Amino acid sequence: MERIRIVGGRPLEGTVRISGAKNASLPDVCAALLTDGQVVLHNVPEVRDIRTMGRVLADLGAAVDFRVGGTVAIQAGRITSVEATYDLVKTMRASVLVLGPLVARAGRARVSLPGGCAIGARPIDLHLRALEKMGAKIHVESGYVEARAERLRGAEVAFDMVTVTGTENVMMAASLAEGETVIRKAAQEPEIEDLAALLVAMGAKIEGAGSPTIRIRGVEKLGGAEHTVIPDRIETGTFIGACAVAGGDIEVRNCQPAHLRPVIEKLRETGIRIEEGPNNMRVRAPRTLRASDVTTEPHPGFPTDMQAQYMALMTQAAGTSTITETIFENRYMHVGELQRMGANIRVDGRKAVVTGHTPLSGAQVMATDLRASACLLLAALAARGETIVDRIYHLDRGYYRIDEKLRGIGADIERVGQGGRRATDAVVSAEPTA
Ligand code: EPZ
Repeated sequence: MERIRIVGGRPLEGTVRISGAKNASLPDVCAALLTDGQVVLHNVPEVRDIRTMGRVLADLGAAVDFRVGGTVAIQAGRITSVEATYDLVKTMRASVLVLGPLVARAGRARVSLPGGCAIGARPIDLHLRALEKMGAKIHVESGYVEARAERLRGAEVAFDMVTVTGTENVMMAASLAEGETVIRKAAQEPEIEDLAALLVAMGAKIEGAGSPTIRIRGVEKLGGAEHTVIPDRIETGTFIGACAVAGGDIEVRNCQPAHLRPVIEKLRETGIRIEEGPNNMRVRAPRTLRASDVTTEPHPGFPTDMQAQYMALMTQAAGTSTITETIFENRYMHVGELQRMGANIRVDGRKAVVTGHTPLSGAQVMATDLRASACLLLAALAARGETIVDRIYHLDRGYYRIDEKLRGIGADIERVGQGGRRATDAVVSAEPTA
């Protein structure tokens, strides 16, 4: 099992290029199920979750062609199966994004329930209730959701709480439904707008994506399309955090500052200097970070996917900060590992109180989920001495070659095998992700 070895204390210098957004690419790939035409996506990150989604679609009968340089061509000429199996769904809960497209296109879907995950229970009840409102017959048995509908019909879908993939599932399903669907309390993440742009390019009729109310007038048939996926705003935020915690002066390229406005504003409050260009940013670390409280919220609030990385910064800030996690009930798995490195953090329910500035020392630590692993990388960049991060398959799920990108801006970081020997070039493999 691969690990990452980091020796901290080196400031970062130079330019890093951001990859395409994982959380936009996943629904975009699933949208290809809505048509028998070819969908070509560019700027898709070559990360493990995208490969897994490619396998899910191939199982359904789609031809999925991963080309060099982040292009993926998908053609679901015929849907030969409507089943997304437990073996695949358990490795990546985003597989639930095939539910809406399958019911809309094939009139039927059999999708394994994702089950809980490290950061929370994460039920999909809101997805199912919305599809029921659109006329689908839903039946849950033996860990699988069975959904059937001759043709979905437009409906008023008002979510009790904001759900990103729930909004995406309904947008895709409604694109081929009879009549108009109105989604209220819709998610407003940039990934929602990216999916809407692709669906509209395929011939869908969608208004209001990016706002709390989305209107979709269903059409008989959708066609193929070509689309470039937006940059990854969470990867962008992670690299700004890396510079802030390690010190230094970097340029972040191929990013979209407007997509992470709440993150940029918060990081500026801590003293980080950020100069924005049209699709790049210059980031300069302050001598000492300032502590500042944060509460995670759906977009345009501060994203929960930046919470763990932000906590690593706050361990190095002068003063005490309170972090409140409102989206997931169990997203502090990284705290124990940070404490092992010397951080002073007290968790009380959804609140974590971080007292800084505390010197961190390198240690052997274990990643528990995707963003927790990014948090540990940042802490290791600030720590004295060597850190070994274990279970980095979590990292490879959503970050493209982050170790190489960090090394490219001066970090002392490398992948090592179990025995501590340097491992080379092992980003995307067929191993299952726990
Ligand atoms: C998306 O997950 C992202 N994943 C997550 O990113 C991200 O953390 C999350 O949105 C919030 O921003 C992808 O886009 C693939 P939700 P999603 O439905 O859609 C509850 C990462 O690190 N809920 O918006 O699964 C749920 O339990 C990942 O890249 C229900 O109760 O999240 C949670 O508390 C991690 N019932 C809240 O809503 C439902 O039917 C928000 O979840 C659906 C959700």
